[in-house]
Amino acid sequence: MKHLLSTQDLSKDEAVTVLDTAAQMAATQSREIKKLPTLRGRTVVNLFFEDSTRTRISFETAAKRLSADVINFSAKGSSVSKGESLKDTALTLHAMGADAVVVRHWASGAPHQLAYSGWLGGGDDHVAVLNAGDGTHQHPTQALLDAFTMRRHLVGRVGGAPDDGVGSDLAGVKVAIVGDVLHSRVARSNVHLLRTLGADVELVAPPTLLPVGVETWPCTTSYDLDETLARRQPDAVMMLRVQRERMSGGAGAFFPSPLEYTRRYGLDARRLAMLPSHSIVMHPGPMNRGLEISAEAADSPGSVIVEQVANGVAVRMAALYLLLAGTSAEGSVQ
Ligand code: NCD
Repeated sequence: MKHLLSTQDLSKDEAVTVLDTAAQMAATQSREIKKLPTLRGRTVVNLFFEDSTRTRISFETAAKRLSADVINFSAKGSSVSKGESLKDTALTLHAMGADAVVVRHWASGAPHQLAYSGWLGGGDDHVAVLNAGDGTHQHPTQALLDAFTMRRHLVGRVGGAPDDGVGSDLAGVKVAIVGDVLHSRVARSNVHLLRTLGADVELVAPPTLLPVGVETWPCTTSYDLDETLARRQPDAVMMLRVQRERMSGGAGAFFPSPLEYTRRYGLDARRLAMLPSHSIVMHPGPMNRGLEISAEAADSPGSVIVEQVANGVAVRMAALYLLLAGTSAEGSVQ
């Protein structure tokens, strides 16, 4: 594998290799000295055309922990705001000797265009492209960190394995993904990766926030959160942010009122009590506290939301390592 653009490109073996490599990386992160020399002399560019807190900082931390040089490039304050094209930006980065480009872009497909346009070189000279979120399309490292977090909590615990589930997939794990699926690249990336790893996924959303064609996705759907929680007893509940900035026409075009949304689709203490005691509560952040998730749910003992952020560093270290340092021990991701 030369790039990480979509979870749909990952086979089960490749996905498990990324998760296992992330487990090795995570083990190094509890040491006093967290830095590894692996990517010394390599240059990673963070190219962000859309706002981000967690993902940008996480990629930057991951690259630095592997001793790479990191260049942060955000569209605001760069020549992009003077109208420079993606092509000219890419040619500039290539000329500067970037080895990997981490890209977040508002346009679905922009990372794919960067990877296969030739603007970043080709063949042995190619620059690895990592998709850090493109439009409403894909966010593969988020899905990988979510899978890593689920494996750690659910496979290790359910099977009693002492090793955080290393080597395992997510066979039989039941996941509910709830909320603004329509605008969510996190949901799209997760549905495909979780299915590849053998989990059972149900999407729960109002009909207006489910995309056309969702029936072809490898999951089930429901409009009724209470019913899904009671019937499926999910091991993990992943709440999605209501993405008001992507709602042309305003949130009012998608649901009657915030209060109504919260009443039908918000995770609160009452709904939390419907879950099995081992269930985990997830959210990719940033959260709208009081809208899709209450403070009690976000801060509950079963919430792994802060741990997701920490796991993001290990997963991004693994992705950079596998793409830039060559083959894994097993040689299945290269
Ligand atoms: C997500 C994103 O940007 O797609 N956030 C993230 O990467 N942590 C989800 C969101 O913005 O709601």
